[in-house]
Amino acid sequence: MRFSKLADRLPAKRNRLYREYEKASSSGRPIRDLISANLAEQGWVFPQERLQSILADAAGRTRIYRPDPLGLRSAREAIAEFYRPAGIPASAEQVLITPGTSLSYFYCFKLLANPGEEILCPRPSYPLFESIAELAGLQLRYYRLRESRGWEIDLDHLESQISTRTRALVLISPHNPTGMVAGSQPLHDLAAIACRHDLPVLADEVFSEFLYGGEALPRPAATPAPLVFTLNGFSKMAGLPGLKLGWILLSGRQARVRRSLEVMELISDTFLPVNDLAQHMVRGILESREAFAFGLRPWLLRCRQIAGDRLSQCPDVRFALPRGGFYLTLKVGGAEVDEEALCIELLRQSGVLAHPGYFYDMAPAHLVLTFALQHELLDRSLKALCDGIREWKKRQDS
Ligand SMILES: Cc1ncc(COP(=O)(O)O)c(C=O)c1O
Repeated sequence: MRFSKLADRLPAKRNRLYREYEKASSSGRPIRDLISANLAEQGWVFPQERLQSILADAAGRTRIYRPDPLGLRSAREAIAEFYRPAGIPASAEQVLITPGTSLSYFYCFKLLANPGEEILCPRPSYPLFESIAELAGLQLRYYRLRESRGWEIDLDHLESQISTRTRALVLISPHNPTGMVAGSQPLHDLAAIACRHDLPVLADEVFSEFLYGGEALPRPAATPAPLVFTLNGFSKMAGLPGLKLGWILLSGRQARVRRSLEVMELISDTFLPVNDLAQHMVRGILESREAFAFGLRPWLLRCRQIAGDRLSQCPDVRFALPRGGFYLTLKVGGAEVDEEALCIELLRQSGVLAHPGYFYDMAPAHLVLTFALQHELLDRSLKALCDGIREWKKRQDS
């Protein structure tokens, strides 16, 4: 029997850090997980009574199955309404419902690029695109985020990376794991680049509801970019990753939007992958999303403050306070830092799980962690992390 070349390329084994993590957890030792950012585990769940009533209502509507490959019209209408207060005049005709943002990316990649062609993504990034690009048979190319300037987009570098094989620009804002939020001016500059090279923009806004700067989220869909795919869903916004409901809002020049939707409708029709019950829940969840985010936002703001205070006392690290999302990135000072060895040491000695930056395609000597943790636990965990880094550095220097 033979497997495909793709099967051979996909990584078969868990990496060293997670093998170590499994060992530590099976020994019964408590590990403070500074990675998973599972809000439900922190006590933040979508209001349960409301969810039950939305579910019961949806169940009553699912008796007759009449699938629409773009998604139920009533759900698409509710999603379009979500964008209108942000000044984006969306209509149900511009929305495609998907089983989550990861699959939204896959649809976009399949629509826009042929095997061997390129998608331009930010570096660093949440490790998602590589496998999706691999499955779609595409190549990734990267543009820089500038750490010294709060991880802002290096637009000159971005433009210099565009080649004749580039088929789309990916923007993630709020960005995971740096917490960068792209401002209006950089987005307009990005849109100008997209116009000059006639490229579509894929705007990942899954952290759109979690901003700490007080301003509204600047959105590529509000710029003159020729074609924009705005990706979002309920995994973060409503704390319901298991519902598997996401969407793509298409905007820009009409003929391109129309053609894109024709193709995406066919892609979606091949699988009809979105659960009917979940689609009937869309309006209710969107209407109640504020009830979920209401207490969560100040809680996250406090988490961010605790992280900022604690990490500022740690002379061995530098960081930019995140402007959105649940994650932050640390730069560990010193000449040669083997970040994977450091993470393993932190796990063994301090009982703290953080990620090495290379998981996110970062330059050496970076760590990634979440600050969405119960306040006291967060403070203790960060203290343990800082102490662990100090001890590790002492040993390195001696
Ligand atoms: C930036 C970003 N985009 C997309 C996703 C995946 O979203 P979904 O759960 O809707 O597939 C994640 C998951 O954490 C993410 O961090």
